[in-house]
Amino acid sequence: MKRISEGIYREGNKIYTKSIAPKTKVYDERIKKIKKDEFREWDPRRSKLSAAIMKGLRRIPIKSDSIILYLGAANGTTASHVADIAYKGRVYAVEISPRAMMDLMFVCEKRKNMIPILGNANHPEEYESLLEPVDLVYQDVAQKNQAEILLENCKKFLKREGYAMIAVKARSIDVAEKPSKVFARVEEKLKKNFNIIDKRRLEPYEKDHMFYLLKMK
Ligand SMILES: C[S@@+](CC[C@H](N)C(=O)[O-])C[C@H]1O[C@@H](n2cnc3c(N)ncnc32)[C@H](O)[C@@H]1O
Repeated sequence: MKRISEGIYREGNKIYTKSIAPKTKVYDERIKKIKKDEFREWDPRRSKLSAAIMKGLRRIPIKSDSIILYLGAANGTTASHVADIAYKGRVYAVEISPRAMMDLMFVCEKRKNMIPILGNANHPEEYESLLEPVDLVYQDVAQKNQAEILLENCKKFLKREGYAMIAVKARSIDVAEKPSKVFARVEEKLKKNFNIIDKRRLEPYEKDHMFYLLKMK
């Protein structure tokens, strides 16, 4: 298996993270055993970060000791892979849906570096007291005001040298507009406060999604 970034491995056309919770699965992912280690296949059809990597994203600002704020953790699919990579760090996983939170709690129970937070990313003051300054704000909430949510959370929690990642779903912002026009509008907004370091369309894994790697100005 070839290491393509810290904590991320590739074999053939599949990518993997080394599991920090052996003998458990989060979303029925395939497990590959190499000696005593278990590697979890990271499915690009289930995770937008995996899709972005498959589409060529190589600058991935997640290290073994990174502190990450993950907004829109859902049932923990992507967040669990992020926690595999940042195994000596922490992943604060914010999710608004109580139903998804129930699944997420099981995922976090097996991973000491994942902290579940039932909260609304529109109101970062709700979870401010639980957080510390972070190296990365990751956001995948599929909401109309995604750019604003990202900015508010970055202003409050992101370290000066930190990064942001955002998966933008065109149809959540405007169902009628052409996705390329929606992305152009989102970029205009993002560029007021961020430098766009990389961006990847996620087809064929996700339709009408763009994934951005950003740094605050
Ligand atoms: C596309 S799903 C996220 C998938 C997840 N990032 C993954 O890859 O495993 C979007 C999630 O964002 C959550 N969400 C939507 N609005 C939110 C908000 N304002 N604050 C926190 N979570 C929110 C939804 O409940 C949903 O679970």
